[in-house]
Amino acid sequence: MSQQSRALGLTDTEVDLALFGALGDLSLRKLYPALFQLDRERLLPESTRILGLARQEYDTDTFKAKVETALKKRVKASELDEQALSRFLARLEYAQVDFTQSGDFEAIRRWREGATQPMVVYLAVPASIYGAICGNLQASGSIDEDTRVVVEKPIGYDLESSKEINDAIGEVFPETRVYRIDHYLGKETVQNLIALRFANPLFGTQWNQNHISHVEITVAEQVGIEGRWGYFDQAGQLRDMVQNHLLQLLCLIAMDPPANLDADAIRDEKVKVLKALKPFGINSLGRDVVRGQYTAGTCNGESVPGYLEEEGANTDSNTETFVAMKTEVANWRWAGVPFYLRTGKRLPDKLSQIVIHFRQQPHYIFDPDQRSLASNKLIIRLQPEEGIALEVLTKDSGLDKGMRLRPGPLHLDFNSAFPKSRIPDAYERLLLEVMKGQQYLFVRRDEVEHAWQWCDQLVEAWANHDRPPRRYPAGSWGPVASIAMITQDGRSWYEDY
Ligand code: BG6
Repeated sequence: MSQQSRALGLTDTEVDLALFGALGDLSLRKLYPALFQLDRERLLPESTRILGLARQEYDTDTFKAKVETALKKRVKASELDEQALSRFLARLEYAQVDFTQSGDFEAIRRWREGATQPMVVYLAVPASIYGAICGNLQASGSIDEDTRVVVEKPIGYDLESSKEINDAIGEVFPETRVYRIDHYLGKETVQNLIALRFANPLFGTQWNQNHISHVEITVAEQVGIEGRWGYFDQAGQLRDMVQNHLLQLLCLIAMDPPANLDADAIRDEKVKVLKALKPFGINSLGRDVVRGQYTAGTCNGESVPGYLEEEGANTDSNTETFVAMKTEVANWRWAGVPFYLRTGKRLPDKLSQIVIHFRQQPHYIFDPDQRSLASNKLIIRLQPEEGIALEVLTKDSGLDKGMRLRPGPLHLDFNSAFPKSRIPDAYERLLLEVMKGQQYLFVRRDEVEHAWQWCDQLVEAWANHDRPPRRYPAGSWGPVASIAMITQDGRSWYEDY
């Protein structure tokens, strides 16, 4: 917050929000419900106004009706109280804007006339027009030195295109006012990772290659590409999920403790991890990376088409809908510890989970046939049923069991441990942090670029040296080769969901 805003006695969160792409899927599905929840919980200041901007010829009343319908669809009826709803709708205004016409941006300038609080500009539009919008915001005089801009992934398609986009944003907004969203960073359990790692000496002392044998990160989705063929076929699962969400999770697991919780202290440590990620060589490609593409199958009890039969499909596409890989963070803390990552569409469950496997005791004294059990696991569940479990070994009970071991969880299920608190959607937290002007949950430019650099070498290796993706039936856990990839190391994917 600037000195000027402080001098005016504004609180941290007092902002106006200009939302580009106000009638798009992201706004209707995620942003209005999140803003509404903040309002309902009285976290949205009275003074905050929201201006929806889109190409459609709507007036404010039609826009409000559209938002109300979206809220009724997305927010639980028990949470949609009338008073909060009318308070929220009263904040909304609409302006029709062609994003490429600077003259149309006059509407924003007019809306802001006399406003004292800073403006947050949210670009819920494709990254290819971020530059044009930023340029027109500046040319029309609608922004000032307090304006913040929020942008969504994917930022580009590769390192080069992401640099172009970041340059265009950077011509108008300094890095301290750019908020790059990776919505995984707003998830409750992801936040908890920081607390878990850096507030608990128990884990702090064990978090390295001396004590951890390997790490698994699974982000499985049941959905297919949900009518987004045009976007998805250009991107694939590597760019859509690994470049951002999985690498961010990996960074939070692998980073060194930051000196404090300042945004840059955290982001500096994440960048070091990205720089230390081992690239894939031609020899490791076939062994350590498996890509797949789903064929028709059954998901959640329903027959679903294969990727190449989805609406709008181009039937000879080799785009991957599944990736599994074994990578390594080549530094002092993690040398020799494999990080197994897998993510895919049309898998049997929606599940995001990190499993930290601790090493076995150096000397083993129990039943030799139970040796494979003998290690602790920390299971961090992002969704569904957010929680953390530590799998420990205890003696099995019963007179006939002798010293038989039994693995069991020490369990923290967020819903039962904190029954009164609703777990907020990632976007609620992220929007609140933007309003407060805090950047630690947002991705800095160099993080995006290092992540692209690492992905680009893999895409290039695929293009030159790899076979097409292996097929897997929808509703299965991906190509069999992804199971072989981990079993060849004498391990298996953790399956006790
Ligand atoms: C998005 C991807 O970033 O994340 C989608 O573009 C994916 O393809 C989605 O489905 C998954 O998010 P979540 O929060 O449902 O795991």
